Amino acid sequence: MTTRLNNKIPSFTLTRQNEGLREKLLTTIASVIDQGMFILGENVKSLEEEIARYCGAEFGIGVASGSDALYLSLLACGVGPGDEVITTPFTFFATAGSIQRTGARPVFVDIEPETWNIDPSLIEEKITSRTKAIIPVHLYGCPADMDPIMEIAGKYNLKVIEDAAQALGAKYKERSVGGIGDAGCISFFPTKNLGAFGDGGMVVTSDPEIAERVRMLRVHGARKKYYHEELGCNSRLDELQAAVLRVKLEHLESWNERRRTIASTYNLLFQDQGLPLTLPVEPGHVHHVYHQYTVQAGGRVELQAYLKKRGIASTVYYPQPLHLQKVFAHLGYKPGDFPYAEKACREVLSLPMFPELTGEEVQQTVQAIVSFFESGYNHD
Ligand SMILES: Cc1ncc(COP(=O)(O)O)c(C=O)c1O
Repeated sequence: MTTRLNNKIPSFTLTRQNEGLREKLLTTIASVIDQGMFILGENVKSLEEEIARYCGAEFGIGVASGSDALYLSLLACGVGPGDEVITTPFTFFATAGSIQRTGARPVFVDIEPETWNIDPSLIEEKITSRTKAIIPVHLYGCPADMDPIMEIAGKYNLKVIEDAAQALGAKYKERSVGGIGDAGCISFFPTKNLGAFGDGGMVVTSDPEIAERVRMLRVHGARKKYYHEELGCNSRLDELQAAVLRVKLEHLESWNERRRTIASTYNLLFQDQGLPLTLPVEPGHVHHVYHQYTVQAGGRVELQAYLKKRGIASTVYYPQPLHLQKVFAHLGYKPGDFPYAEKACREVLSLPMFPELTGEEVQQTVQAIVSFFESGYNHD
């Protein structure tokens, strides 16, 4: 029997990280206030250069969120009404929501059961004369299989927009994600590996035309102030958020390393236990940054409840695949269309994962899971 823990283990918390950075962050925020420049100032400009360099891209354009990064990248690639964009149904809503916002149609392709990322071998059969782009998502921090995706895109002259919202710092064959496709989209939502104190996002690209167009679209389609060439929107990264992000960026590599160590510890502790549990995989050619440490198991509902009773939080990313969302009903998909994505939605569970999580907390979490299965709760 696992004893109930006195201290709860959160899925995620920023409290521990903020404690260590508090003084530096407050000084930085104060200096932005003193300078009095709150929109598109020096911190945004510097962060754009720093993140672009980090992703191996030439340009970075700060925008209001990861969702807007996707939307504006699609617009900048010329995607609009009548077009189709291929993506995965097992991702956060914004990936496909951004496609629909442009007036284009999301076209879904099932995932690989091992990595939960889009299965490149299923893409080609979905390409039509209307297909304009592919959005691979590097889910949970694990890079999608980019080589075949880039090859297909080259063959059919399609744009590739990487949804790297969960994967800043991840690498595919030594190349940083975000910098591999035509554009890469980053989210600075507070829970991300590099998180702001509010919403924020960035488009990275080495294509000067895409860069120029996103830069214009984020300020209502104006290259020159008050002269509007096309319909854009107000979508800028705040100067205050950029300043906070620059303080945190210095720690990103070590935080990602710590996430990797925590993932190895989980793997090691689960190994040889013989549990009916699928662990996350890290294909040999990728560098995973474990935005989430996600396992897959039958009896997920019971397992999550069991952990909760013992003070251990866990989260389901995501309970409903996108092809079965009400907002996409008009696309005509039905249950059974994407079996692996649907199974993942029924069975995945993300365990506590953040850089400040202690080894002891990892151990307690694993112990609780072992005792769940030992107690015969698995009804699968
Ligand atoms: C895979 C994925 N795409 C897009 C987004 C959208 O980012 P944001 O929340 O910054 O709009 C997120 C983050 O929530 C995400 O996880």
